Amino acid sequence: RLLIIDFGSQVTQLIARRLRELSVYCEIHPYQNVTDAFLADFAPKAVIFSGGPASVIDEGSPRPPRSVYDLGVPILGICYGQQVMMADLGGKVERGHGTAEFGRAYVEPKNGDIDLLFGWFLEGKEQVWMSHGDHVSAIAPGFEVYGTSPNAPYAITADPDRRFFAVQFHPEVHHTPNGATFYENFVRMAGFRGDWTMGAYRDEAIAKIRAQVGESHVICGLSGGVDSSVTAVLLHEAIGDQLTCVFVDHGLLRQNEAQEVVTMFRDHYNMKLIHADEAELFLDELEGVSDPEVKRKTIGRLFIDVFQREANKIEGAEFLAQGTLYPDVIESVSFSGGPSVTIKSHHNVGGLPEKMGLKLVEPLRELFKDEVRALGHELGLPASFIGRHPFPGPGLAIRVPGEITREKLEILRKADAVYIDQIRKHGLYDEIWQAFVAILPVRTVGVMGDGRTYDYACALRAVTSVDGMTADYYPFSHDFLGETATRIINEVQGINRVTYDITSKPPGTIEWE
Ligand code: XMP
Repeated sequence: RLLIIDFGSQVTQLIARRLRELSVYCEIHPYQNVTDAFLADFAPKAVIFSGGPASVIDEGSPRPPRSVYDLGVPILGICYGQQVMMADLGGKVERGHGTAEFGRAYVEPKNGDIDLLFGWFLEGKEQVWMSHGDHVSAIAPGFEVYGTSPNAPYAITADPDRRFFAVQFHPEVHHTPNGATFYENFVRMAGFRGDWTMGAYRDEAIAKIRAQVGESHVICGLSGGVDSSVTAVLLHEAIGDQLTCVFVDHGLLRQNEAQEVVTMFRDHYNMKLIHADEAELFLDELEGVSDPEVKRKTIGRLFIDVFQREANKIEGAEFLAQGTLYPDVIESVSFSGGPSVTIKSHHNVGGLPEKMGLKLVEPLRELFKDEVRALGHELGLPASFIGRHPFPGPGLAIRVPGEITREKLEILRKADAVYIDQIRKHGLYDEIWQAFVAILPVRTVGVMGDGRTYDYACALRAVTSVDGMTADYYPFSHDFLGETATRIINEVQGINRVTYDITSKPPGTIEWE
């Protein structure tokens, strides 16, 4: 296994992800925990030093134990990791007066080929992503420069004999397009066969959960979404009946959804599941509320109340499981700060663990969404379930602009079911990031048969997106839209007009509220 020593870079998890893509098993450990004893016990086959915000020039800056250099295994230092390696091994690092560099740069080869750069420089130079303040001003004895850029004379440095490599840029971000090759060369050199799989991840995750939880009882909030479902099934595999799931049903779910969740987890998986059917409570409390933020706050508050009430009934619970993903991430580029990770968290039970005196179990913390899906697949969750579109915590409440009534919710559920059915029938579901109907707070006049109608209008929404942060409306054919509108009007009493929302995000948002 490979050890990543984390010096606090925002993109450390991306290194891990690149390695998993190469089917290499790695673990990230914060530098504080990496002691001589730890290293001896871990016995890594290779080590990567991540980047980080510190400056090696400062007294007490984070360093790995010296013994890491005596392991005889390949070491790769990235950005701050490069500076650490240089400073530790006899080179020099200086403050970046005017030489700080953030963003795209082009590196050219120097001093011939090394294995690490196999498949690099085929076109002369490589685009890389720089993000550093300090810079190396003299390389350590034994090292040689193998790549330079106008602002980074020591962009790539290496001591091929000892297999120590140190680079100033971030090969793990996608602004270094050939970064995967770079990592592939590194792990091949370290002797990894690339035979690690999601199946192995599952076994390791299960072992970790057992070690963490012991004989204690765990509570898991289950929403029916992919993340909480995978968390629950994984925990159930690990600890069986020591797990109780709490499903807070706020009455704002889609058609048949609550029943599907109960059937799947209670009947199919045989899990202990508390179905807190609190539709009446939520809908009563939401009466007269039309402001979107008040809706969200009301739902959030009630959700926590109900969850807490149910969880308190579970005797001996010591842990709370959460389907926190490493990111709902976005690798974004901010012009001032280089690569950064924006984390959007939708923790429905945020703040609860402290309040209830529970410890956290977060078995998906290291994974990205597509990896969670792969794990779900590994755990036997049906593909139709794993591939479901995201659904917001406040549910249909934010798809009923204005005041929520039971009548509107009922109409919305039916229209949404027809729309999704249409999308599935036309084989478009997996091409779309999210699709839903919003029922509009207007009634319009129509004519059906010989009579006048005065019913609600609805808007169909469908977008493509990578991460939900930006989105384009989906370009349905006119035939599809026409057929869907006809079906909704014929099959759903209460709607007599259908519109299609062609706003992208920005300037729109995906949801209507
Ligand atoms: P917007 O509407 O902000 O949505 O473009 C982006 C993504 O976030 C979801 N969303 C929410 N999810 N609680 C959630 O758990 C919320 O309050 C919320 N609001 C929006 C939305 O469905 C889309 O996937």
